[in-house]
Amino acid sequence: MIKHRLKAAVAAVAFLASAPAAYADITLNNTITGEPLNLDDAPPDGRDVAGFKEFMQTGKNPYVGNKDCLAKGEELFNGACSGCHGHLAEGKIGPGLNDAYWTYPGNATDKGMFETVFGGASGQMGPMYNSVNVDEMLITMAWVRHLYKDDPSKAEWLEADARKALKPYDGSKPPAPGPDAPQECRMGG
Ligand code: HEC
Repeated sequence: MIKHRLKAAVAAVAFLASAPAAYADITLNNTITGEPLNLDDAPPDGRDVAGFKEFMQTGKNPYVGNKDCLAKGEELFNGACSGCHGHLAEGKIGPGLNDAYWTYPGNATDKGMFETVFGGASGQMGPMYNSVNVDEMLITMAWVRHLYKDDPSKAEWLEADARKALKPYDGSKPPAPGPDAPQECRMGG
């Protein structure tokens, strides 16, 4: 009996201890107004994907630098963004996303760019959640980062080491996803 109760107590404590971590999500704010963004404004698709959950814990886009996700990112970008931002994100109706200049400096961080893609900015830049789901937004953003052509030292979204190793985009096609590619980055699915 006592043993049982002890077990239950231990389980309860373990649950309580783990609970804060599970809810320690980052907060997201509208790029223009600073108002909190509500994920429930978007369709639920993509919310349960490991990559998106990790982003909500860390504020870092886990797809950045993952070669297996570049092809998917290119496909998504060409479907949802390139019409306004240009094929290489060089700028068209919307500003270039492949250089070190940002209208909203927060876009040099993963969290900031997600806030813009999810919540929109001004004019033609509306919320993108009806074109790409929340996890696909991150995969698309990783392709945008891959297209970067400017000074590596201004690649704020990377840690110092990765910044040093960064090579500006050379125009090459992304490799086909390998066998270990996350499900979300496989092509034709
Ligand atoms: C219908 C046209 C249109 C589409 C589609 C579109 N954008 Fe935009 N985007 C714009 C315009 C116009 C702006 C400038 C808005 C502003 O300055 O407030 C912009 C701004 C941005 C910015 C901020 C740039 C800065 O300098 O701070 C980012 C990041 C961005 N878009 C990413 C994306 C991504 C990623 C997609 C695809 C998922 C996308 N956009 C789709 C038109 C578009």
